[in-house]
Amino acid sequence: MEIKITKTTAPKAKPASDGLGFGKYFTDHMFVMDYTEGKGWHDARIVPYGPLSLDPSCMVLHYGQAIFEGMKAYRAADGGALLFRPMKNMERVNISNDRLCIPQIDAEFAVEAIKKLVEVDMDWIPDGEGTSLYVRPFIIATDNALGVHPSHTYQFIVIMSPVGAYYPEGLNPVKIYVEDEFVRAVRGGMGFAKTAGNYAASIKAQKVAAEKGYTQVLWLDGVERKYIEEVGTMNVFFKIDGEIITPALNGSILAGITRDSSIQILRSWGLKVTERKLGIQEVYDAHKAGKLEEVFGTGTAAVISPVGELNWAGNVISINNGEIGEISAKLYDAITGVQSGEIEDTFDFTVRV
Ligand code: COI
Repeated sequence: MEIKITKTTAPKAKPASDGLGFGKYFTDHMFVMDYTEGKGWHDARIVPYGPLSLDPSCMVLHYGQAIFEGMKAYRAADGGALLFRPMKNMERVNISNDRLCIPQIDAEFAVEAIKKLVEVDMDWIPDGEGTSLYVRPFIIATDNALGVHPSHTYQFIVIMSPVGAYYPEGLNPVKIYVEDEFVRAVRGGMGFAKTAGNYAASIKAQKVAAEKGYTQVLWLDGVERKYIEEVGTMNVFFKIDGEIITPALNGSILAGITRDSSIQILRSWGLKVTERKLGIQEVYDAHKAGKLEEVFGTGTAAVISPVGELNWAGNVISINNGEIGEISAKLYDAITGVQSGEIEDTFDFTVRV
């Protein structure tokens, strides 16, 4: 499919690299393509960034038939750009699409479209330490109808935002509240899909945790509320007595791409990484025994985020004296080094634009 490009006649002023925050500024262009039943995906185009025109009855506004992705483009030393495992994101789009009854996309074409969009807005890739161009592909159901059924029309849109650290703490350890009232997902639900509804379900818990001074919540399983699932916008890893443990993908946890990359990198260092069911009690027991060495989250937006404190039902524990752990710091350097092209990419993770 051909991609028609219409460039803006009114480019915006770019924000300074320091103080970008996360997702506050948007580039000059966006990618859009439409889906119509019987016709498939069509009219691929790059157009000036701007508002969408949706009928108030548009299905996504009522029933949340929507999926999204998050990926990052980095400025390479030679002035080009690097994307980190973009095919993985587009493969995950199709996993999410399947769960939400959204038609499959051509993953390879979508990666090409994203490369083109990054090329058009290349000047928007920030070059400050810890900054990147966050790429947000998403699909929405666009039928104008109030009946609950799969939409017959959709839009696939990609917008981009120059970003700094997701958490204001940056690489400083975050405080996490272990959520024992609300649940994010259950098996058979949509936890493994990257759908808007999962994040809508998380907002209340996050608000309550923030009021108590916590940056994020750690979700427990939706049935017994005993087993660790993930943290707000990240997968989570625990270093206990030399072994790195992360919850196994069980259907209600998002299969993070940074999670997978971290497992591969940690194993390449000869570390033991185990994916299994992990109870919150076991983590507290390990802390009591002096064996809980590090906790960190992994995610596209958050990259590697060390956890310095956990609060589970009022029992507060400090991890590594609230300081970043050795493995968390080393993993952050390794991942960001590969992403930005500063470290040789022996894993073949990066794709050049
Ligand atoms: C990402 O890490 O890209 C995410 O999608 C998390 C997001 C909700 C900020």
